[in-house]
Amino acid sequence: MYAQLKQRGMRRPPVNVSTLARMKKDSEPIACLTAYDASFARLVDRAGVDLVLVGDSLGMVIQGHDTTVPVTVDHIIYHSKTVARALTHAFLVADMPFMSYSEPEQALDNAVRLMQEGAAMMVKLEGGMGQLKIVEHLARHDIPVCAHIGLRPQSVHKIGGFKVHGRDAAQAEEMLNSARRLEDAGADVVLLECVPNELGMAVASQCRVPVIGIGAGPHVDGQILVLYDILGITQGPVPKFVRNFIDAAANPLAACEAYVAAVKSRQYPAPEHCFS
Ligand code: KIV
Repeated sequence: MYAQLKQRGMRRPPVNVSTLARMKKDSEPIACLTAYDASFARLVDRAGVDLVLVGDSLGMVIQGHDTTVPVTVDHIIYHSKTVARALTHAFLVADMPFMSYSEPEQALDNAVRLMQEGAAMMVKLEGGMGQLKIVEHLARHDIPVCAHIGLRPQSVHKIGGFKVHGRDAAQAEEMLNSARRLEDAGADVVLLECVPNELGMAVASQCRVPVIGIGAGPHVDGQILVLYDILGITQGPVPKFVRNFIDAAANPLAACEAYVAAVKSRQYPAPEHCFS
């Protein structure tokens, strides 16, 4: 019954929010990957990944859409459930899809579904200042939240494409402010996508909560990539921040282990994966 107590003596106990906070405090990089099904989830868990995200990137890599916009709460729940069955160590985060958190009550209902039906331990939503009320509402109900800022793929049609954010001083200041306000509103993790190294460093050093980067440079508290990108499954051009780990590996498990080792030793991201 008291699984949490049993886990304390384990060699590799499951990761929880306190583990992530401790890793930030100890400057231990947090290695994260996406996964969408049980087989890949088992593999990334075995490779030593600390956090697995059932991202709405599944709309692109699983469903074949050009954007994440068509993904629904039911889609995320389906994939999150399958991933949850395979994890023994990694912390499971599930994405809140486009328009599933436009009002506090709607956000709470959907977050509860992701946790109860999808077995997620944290939900991730995209947004800055505009989402403060939503984050506050979820946090008040003890829903762990990851706030995704910088490039927000769900807003692709509004912002006109996938591009680097926070290059000018005013934008950078605003992003830094958003990160702090989201943290004050109750976000437990900040995810920062496609920003210059310097801004990544500023956000990570000024936030108390862990800051996970994707294309945010080497000075954040952890890294995340889309699994299919590192395994060379994605066809065609990939973003600059992606590194292929399969070409130099014997098999997919070895590729994921190499990714974890590169994040932990800070060899990934290298300068060619970063923005200035
Ligand atoms: O949906 C997703 O996979 C994501 C990551 C790329 C961070 O949001």
